Amino acid sequence: MRYGHFDNEHREYVIDRVDLPTSWTNYLGVEKFASVINHTAGGYSFYDSPEYHRISRFHGNSVPMDRPGYYVYLRDNDSKDYFSISWQPVGKDLDKAKYTCRHGLSYSVYECEYDGISASQKMCVPRGENVLLWDVRVKNTGDQTRNLSLFTYLEFSFHSIAIDNQNFQMSLYCAGSSYADGVIEEDLYYEPDGYQFFTSNTEIDGFDCVRDTFLGTYHTETDPQAVIRGACSGSEEKGGNHCGSLQKNITLEPGEETRLIFMLGEGGRAEGLRIRKKYMDPVAVDEAYADLAAFWDRKLKKLQIKTPHEGMNTLLNIWTLYQSEINVMFSRFASFIEVGGRTGLGYRDTAQDAMTIPHSNPDKCKERILQLLNGLVSQGYGLHLFDPAWFEEEAKGDGFQSPTVIPVAKADRIHGREHACADDALWLIAAITEYIKETGDLSFADKEVPYADGGRGTVYEHMKKILDFSNEEVGSHGVCKGLRADWNDCLNLGGGESAMVSFLHYWALQNFLPLAEKLERNEDVKKYGDMADHVKEVCDSVLWDKEWFIRGITKDGKKIGTFEDEEGRVHLESNAWAVLSGAATGEKAEKAMEAIDTYLYTPWGLLLNTPAYTKVDPSIGFITKVYPGLKENSAVFSHPNPWAWAAECMLGHGNTAMKFYDALCPYRQNDLIEIREAEPYSYCQFIVGKDHKEHGRARHPFMTGSGGWSYFSATRYMLGIRPDYDGLTIDPCIPDDWDGFEARRTWRGTEYRITVKNPAHVEKGVKTLMFDGKEVTKIPVCEEGSTHRVEVIMG
Ligand code: GLC
Repeated sequence: MRYGHFDNEHREYVIDRVDLPTSWTNYLGVEKFASVINHTAGGYSFYDSPEYHRISRFHGNSVPMDRPGYYVYLRDNDSKDYFSISWQPVGKDLDKAKYTCRHGLSYSVYECEYDGISASQKMCVPRGENVLLWDVRVKNTGDQTRNLSLFTYLEFSFHSIAIDNQNFQMSLYCAGSSYADGVIEEDLYYEPDGYQFFTSNTEIDGFDCVRDTFLGTYHTETDPQAVIRGACSGSEEKGGNHCGSLQKNITLEPGEETRLIFMLGEGGRAEGLRIRKKYMDPVAVDEAYADLAAFWDRKLKKLQIKTPHEGMNTLLNIWTLYQSEINVMFSRFASFIEVGGRTGLGYRDTAQDAMTIPHSNPDKCKERILQLLNGLVSQGYGLHLFDPAWFEEEAKGDGFQSPTVIPVAKADRIHGREHACADDALWLIAAITEYIKETGDLSFADKEVPYADGGRGTVYEHMKKILDFSNEEVGSHGVCKGLRADWNDCLNLGGGESAMVSFLHYWALQNFLPLAEKLERNEDVKKYGDMADHVKEVCDSVLWDKEWFIRGITKDGKKIGTFEDEEGRVHLESNAWAVLSGAATGEKAEKAMEAIDTYLYTPWGLLLNTPAYTKVDPSIGFITKVYPGLKENSAVFSHPNPWAWAAECMLGHGNTAMKFYDALCPYRQNDLIEIREAEPYSYCQFIVGKDHKEHGRARHPFMTGSGGWSYFSATRYMLGIRPDYDGLTIDPCIPDDWDGFEARRTWRGTEYRITVKNPAHVEKGVKTLMFDGKEVTKIPVCEEGSTHRVEVIMG
C-alpha cells in the first residue's frame, strides 16, 4: 500500500494519505534554529541544542502521537464548524476533507480542502534568522461569502529539557507570558536573557498566552475551547504553561485568498518586533524560500547522476544526500526518537557522518573533525559521547543557574581506556583523509589541535595515536580488544577480542598510508606499513573459520560466529569489513561475501547476524538480551548494509552489490507501507528481522549512519567516483545489464561531466579513460571554474 509519491521536479515527497501508520518527519533549519516536524505539523523547535535550548514543547512517545506542534485552526463563524490546516490535531473525517503534506528540502507544506475552503501552511526556518516562519494561505473556493476566524497554537517550552520534564515545583513558576505590540513573549524568568516570542504580520483580533486557558480544562489540541467558542480570552500570566495563540477574523468573498505570516522565534519582544518588521511583507518570506532552494541547489549540484535506476537517482540526487547532511548538522540527537535528553557528539557516529559528505559540506565536516580530534584522549581513544562545548573557552550551558545543587562531575568527563569503544576513533582516520582528498588541503594534516586531557598535537599526530592505540589494545590472540563495545553497541566483549575492530584497524591504516606517503613521512610509511602487514597476518590466521570470518573471541576464549555456533553463527560486520578493508582477498574474500548472501540476505536488506540469540550470555553482551529480530539481534540493521555493497564492489560483483542495494532501498518500499510503516525517503536505523513477526517494519528514520554510508558506498564504490590526492578516480562496479550512466561531479571547483559506457556489459573494469577527448590514465585536478568531459568505457 502506498501513502505518497516522490515529486522529483520539486524535490518533494508528497504524502497523499495523511493517516500514516507512524510519524514521517522532516528537518527545518540549517543553522542554529531547527525544527523537527511531521506530516501533521507536530514537532518541536530548539536553538543550537535540543537538550538545553528548547523553544517549543513536544511529548515524545506519547498518546495521541506527535503532539503538540504548530497548528492553525479555521472556524466558520456561521456554522461554528472548525478544522485544522494540518490533518491533526482536529482530525476531520478524510472522506469529507482532503489533506496532503509535502516534505521538501528544509520546508514542509500542509494543504487541505474542506467545505469550500482551501488552505495551506508552509513552514521553514530561513537562513540567517532564528525563527520558524508559518506561511498561511486561506482561499474561499465556494460561491458564498465566508466569515472565518483563524487561530494559531504552539506550546512554549522551558529551555532545559530536564527542567521542562521534571521538578515542576520549580519549572511551573519559572516562566511568564505577555502580549504587547503584536508580539507574545515568553519570559524564562530565572534565566538571564531567556525569552522566546510568537508574532505575525497582521493586526490581530485576539490572543492567548496561557495554554490551559486556550485549550480549556479537559480539552486538548483537538478541541480547544477558544476555537469552539470562536474567541481567545487575552490570557497572560506569570508562572504556568504558555502558548502562542493569535486570532485573526477573516471575511473572504468567493474566490478571494488571504496570506498571513506567523513567526516563532528565539529572543524577546524587541527581537520579535524586528522579525515582525522583516517579514511584514510576504515577499521577504518568498525570498527566504528562494534562498533555501539555492542553498540546497548548490549542495546537490556537487554530484548529480543519471543511471537506469530511478530509485537510485532519486535517492542519491536528493534524499540520501539530504539525510547525510542532516546527520552532520544535527549529530543524531534530534528526532522523535531522540527527543533531546542526550546531547553532544557520539564519537563514532559523527566521525562516520563527517566522512561521507565533504563535497557538499566541507566546512561542517571540518568542524566536526576538529571537534572529534579535540575529544581524543592523548592515549589515542575517543570520548564516546561528549559535548564539544566542554572544550570551548567559554563553555556554554543552558544559561540556567539552578538555585539547588545539580552535581556535574567534571572529572567524569574523561573516561578511562576500559570504557572506550574499541572502534570509535578509527573512523576518524578516513574522515580526515576524505576531507583532504576532497579539498586538497594537505596543510590540514599539520594543524595543531588540543587533546581532551590536555596537551596538543597536529592532526597527523592525533592520527598516529589512534592507530597506535589499536595496535596496543590487543588480546591474547593479537586481535584488537572489544573493550566496552565495538561498532555494535550491544556486543560487549570487554577483555575479549573483536574481529571487526582489527579489520577496521587495517582499513584505517590503508587510509593513513597514502597520506603519510604524500607527506613524505617515510619513517611512518615504514612503521605503519609493517603494522598493516602484521594486522593482516593476524586476521588471516586467527579469524577465518571454514566458510567465513568469525565475529570475535570472548574474554574466556570462546569464538563467536563460528561454523559450529547455533546462534549468532554468521555476522555481517566482520565479513563485510574483512573484504572492504582489503585484509581478505582471494577465495576467503569470495566465501565471506557468499556467506553474507546465503545467510544474511532478506528482501528487506541484510541481517546483522543470524540465527538470532535467544540465550542470555553476558560474555557476548547485551545483544543476547535483545528480542530476536529487533535492533542488533538479527534485525536488518541498516548502517552495515552499505559496507557489504562496497565489499561486493571490491570483488567486482556489481550485480550482487545492486541486489543488496535494492533490498534496503527505501524508495523501492514506497508501495509496501503497510509493512514498512516508516517514510520511504529516508533510511531507517533498522528493519525488523525475520525472527520477529513484524519482519519488514522500519524504525528510527533520518538519524542513522546508513544515510551517510549509503551515499558513500553507492557513489564511491558502485558508481566508483572517488577523489584522490592528485586526481579523480572513476572505477564503477555496476550491474552488467546497465549500458552505462552519466554523472556531473564538482571537485575542487571544477565540473567533470562524466559519461560511463558499458558496451561489453561487464560489472567492473575500465578499458578506456578519455579526458576532453584524449585518452589518459588519470583524471587531473583542473583550474577552478572550468568544465571538462570525461568518458569511461568499461570492459
Ligand atoms: C546506534 C548507535 C551507533 C551504533 C549502532 C549499532 O545506531 O548510534 O553508534 O554503532 O547503534 O549498535
